[in-house]
Amino acid sequence: MSTIVVVGSQWGDEGKGKITDLLSEESNVIVRYQGGSNAGHTVVDGERQYVFHLIPSGILHQGKKCYIGSGVVIDPSSLLQEIEDLRKQGIEVEGKLFIDAKAHVVFPYHKTLDEKKEEKRGQNKIGTTKRGIGPAYIDKNARCGIRMSDLIYKDILEKKLKRNFEEKNENLLKIYNYDLTLQEQATILNEYGQYGQALKPYIRDVSLLVNQAIDENKKVLFEGAQGSLLDIDHGTYPYVTSSSPIAGGACTGIGVGPTKINKVLGITKAYTTRVGEGPFPTEMLDKTGNDIRTKGGEFGATTGRPRRCGWFDAVVVKYAVRLSGMESMALTKIDVLSGLEKIKICTSYQYHGEKINDFPTDLEILKKCIPVYEELDGWKEDISKINDFQDFPLALKKYIEKIETLTNAKIAIVSVGPKRKQTIIREKIF
Ligand code: GDP
Ligand code: IMO
Ligand code: MG
Repeated sequence: MSTIVVVGSQWGDEGKGKITDLLSEESNVIVRYQGGSNAGHTVVDGERQYVFHLIPSGILHQGKKCYIGSGVVIDPSSLLQEIEDLRKQGIEVEGKLFIDAKAHVVFPYHKTLDEKKEEKRGQNKIGTTKRGIGPAYIDKNARCGIRMSDLIYKDILEKKLKRNFEEKNENLLKIYNYDLTLQEQATILNEYGQYGQALKPYIRDVSLLVNQAIDENKKVLFEGAQGSLLDIDHGTYPYVTSSSPIAGGACTGIGVGPTKINKVLGITKAYTTRVGEGPFPTEMLDKTGNDIRTKGGEFGATTGRPRRCGWFDAVVVKYAVRLSGMESMALTKIDVLSGLEKIKICTSYQYHGEKINDFPTDLEILKKCIPVYEELDGWKEDISKINDFQDFPLALKKYIEKIETLTNAKIAIVSVGPKRKQTIIREKIF
């Protein structure tokens, strides 16, 4: 049995796409388990760059199966667009990509509600991707959601949609003064009926398929979206997403038992970024922060928004290591820090003069936490072509060692650029 969960250990965009693609080479099956088209996972294949929102990042490899688990919320138009984009590049996904029948569907009213709710929150907005993620998960949990299997049957879809239209329209009109017209309702029913037919060949029982693959000793990779600090339970609530990106989310989001998980690989950026609102203790609002954003190309893969940038926060990553039981990590984008005279690393927080070593559960405390930094020497060399750990500058080796010590996790992979070959494997993952 060989199963690995890939988990983002900060606030997302750590390079999960790159590492998932890389590990897919050796895997048989790659499965997404939560989130939706709020995710943007970048894979660089030669001169081409792909950004996946719903399709697992292993799709470019031949002879693999890619599954979307029931924990994912699916925007069919976004998924069909991704399928079409791949087809245009000569990559056919039919027979290779499967979606769980139990996965919930994102409808246009979810996106409208997402937008309207954000507008109404004003200063307290979350800064969502406006992909309808929160409202779709609300319906799932309120037990009025519509699942992929419902899309196939026109009569069932019509009945369920009608109930939702009544309820949504009441809310939209009363609270947001927005009228979902009968014309719009008819268009949604018609469009989604067509999506159901287009996606019918992809719909399966993914839990069954994944468990069968595990029983057959296949290598299975579970691809998390977002990051641990965006987890609905353990993240910086309410500035989080509406699902569970941590390793446990793979069990519920696919339908596999915890006894079937062998390993958890954290994906960790050499510094910290965050998109959207919410506390960010090590955020750099100065020139260094700007320089890192420019050099690291830190602009959202889904929304294009500039990502907030900050120093590496070991309190955050140590917390993520604990939440998912990560034993090893892939450290990405270390090349972006080359050329800095000094590099800071946050080792603990200070709150009202008191030292805090563990990530606070109370957002009000977190907001007032002051990072305690240790300053390390930087390195000048361009490291993006180095392919042996031994050839790294001493200062970089020390930085990596420091991260390992502070987070209690081994750095098994070091990524020095977006390309596959810009990766140093220190420890075999599968
Ligand atoms: P994800 O959401 O975790 O998959 O990450 P994103 O794809 O949103 O953002 C990571 C970005 O960094 C992408 O543009 C990647 O191509 C790029 N990237 C990944 N690893 C490295 C690396 O080691 N160095 C550099 N310079 N870029 C990287
Ligand atoms: P990947 O998988 C970074 C953030 C949004 C917002 C919050 C809630 O590419 O790492 P949502 O639309 O989910 O309701 O927004 O979560 N967010 C992400 N930030 N990377 C992501 O995905 C994200 N997905 C959501 O910016 O702050
Ligand atoms: Mg991303």
